[in-house]
Amino acid sequence: MKNNIYLDNCSTTPLSKYVKTEMIAAMNEDYKNPSSLHRLGITSEKAMEKALKSVSTLMNAMPNKVFFTSGGTESNNMAIFQVAKARKRNVKIALTMADHPSITETVKAYGIETYILPIDRFGVIKLEEIELPEHLDMIIITHVHNEIGSIQPMYEICKAVRKKYPTTHIHADCVQSYGKFKLHPEDWDIDTMSVSSHKIHGPKGIGAIYIKNPNKTSPFIVGGLQQRGLRGGTENILGIVGFGAAAEERLQYLESNLEKVALLKRTFMNILEDADIEYHVNSSENGTPYILSLSIPNAKGEVILHMMEERGIYISTSSACSSKSSHARKPLDVMGISRDRIEGTIRICFNEQLTEKEVTIAATELVKCIRTYNQWMGR
Ligand SMILES: Cc1ncc(COP(=O)(O)O)c(C=O)c1O
Repeated sequence: MKNNIYLDNCSTTPLSKYVKTEMIAAMNEDYKNPSSLHRLGITSEKAMEKALKSVSTLMNAMPNKVFFTSGGTESNNMAIFQVAKARKRNVKIALTMADHPSITETVKAYGIETYILPIDRFGVIKLEEIELPEHLDMIIITHVHNEIGSIQPMYEICKAVRKKYPTTHIHADCVQSYGKFKLHPEDWDIDTMSVSSHKIHGPKGIGAIYIKNPNKTSPFIVGGLQQRGLRGGTENILGIVGFGAAAEERLQYLESNLEKVALLKRTFMNILEDADIEYHVNSSENGTPYILSLSIPNAKGEVILHMMEERGIYISTSSACSSKSSHARKPLDVMGISRDRIEGTIRICFNEQLTEKEVTIAATELVKCIRTYNQWMGR
């Protein structure tokens, strides 16, 4: 029997059973426009409020500081827009350039001056080496890196930034950490934070942004007064209900999921470690267990990906958003990883719905693929 083992969970995750059930119920309910003043509109508004409560609780934020968007990309755009529109003088943003394209490309598109934060080979910001410029409008931090899974020391970075600049806008991209780790927007003292639904078994095309000071914020999508005036357009009620259900589920299992995924990753690594094959681990030991980036020496990651696909196992080489772009410097390149090593990179992203058996099959098949590849190459 052919396998069907999905290990590309950083690109997106399958809808959970509960999310599907809740979304189908919402479809049958045939929700009307939440802005309508009649009874039918009010029912939709109630469903949205319920979802907002779950989504914001999982963000560890008050519901009045959370706004639905179309996903992590829009949330990142909205945050950068806040700073870019205040073009009274030159705007300066600090970032690592190993961030997701919804950050790096947006900063480029606005033509914003950047201060590149020093990072180590895992993409972790080197606090001791930061020489922050005299003036800084914004700093962007990706909490968990989407390609190699490194975790930024949020408290330390935010504290250092706040010490020098009490009012600089701090934005956190928490798309890969939301629903997997506890977030602390208030303790970190950040201004905005992006999250997305489809990375936690919710539907695609829906996400949210935390905004510390909604009253001082401008809408990025201008239109009607939906979402307390901060995001125009009739709300994606089905997406919102699905996102709410996904968040509700994650809230119950946050810690047990993390433990389960750590064990799955260990099982996978044990099989690789016991095999007589060569590989480099790009991910840090201290990173998230949800993401494992490996490089196979003198190999093409894409070929390994397709060999695995033939066996019914789905992995990736890099993030879905940067896999098709050739013009931008890729995050691993920014981290100082050599071109050869990047060429041979594969990314394995676990989720808690996987079983030990599936992970064992996947690792065993990967070992076989690498051996076959080496034989083809006469090694
Ligand atoms: C770190 C990070 N930020 C932002 C995004 C974009 O999120 P979305 O797909 O919801 O637009 C992604 C998606 O892969 C991501 O990994």
